[in-house]
Amino acid sequence: MYVCICNAITEDDVHGCMASGCATAKAVKAACGFKPGCGMCTKRIHTMVSQYRTANELADALTGGPLALTAAPDPVPAQPAPPVAAELTTDLAAEGAAPPTAA
Ligand code: FES
Repeated sequence: MYVCICNAITEDDVHGCMASGCATAKAVKAACGFKPGCGMCTKRIHTMVSQYRTANELADALTGGPLALTAAPDPVPAQPAPPVAAELTTDLAAEGAAPPTAA
């Protein structure tokens, strides 16, 4: 949805600017290439920045501060299926049933 019709700035544009470090409405406007227009969007941009900062402060308070970026852990290799017990296979063969298969 458009936040600023005059400059064709969308909510995604504003969120992207805030995610890349813009912490004030002035910084968001500068990063989005805002040019003076009718001014109808100013309150909306200030509200979005305020909500974003409040959410970040709450997340920091709950987690003990901003999380440091770390490398992703190596994926865990797949484990082979456990072997079927020999006595189970023998018992099933004696009963005439087919041995279990790995799914
Ligand atoms: S709507 Fe943003 S300047 Fe007009």
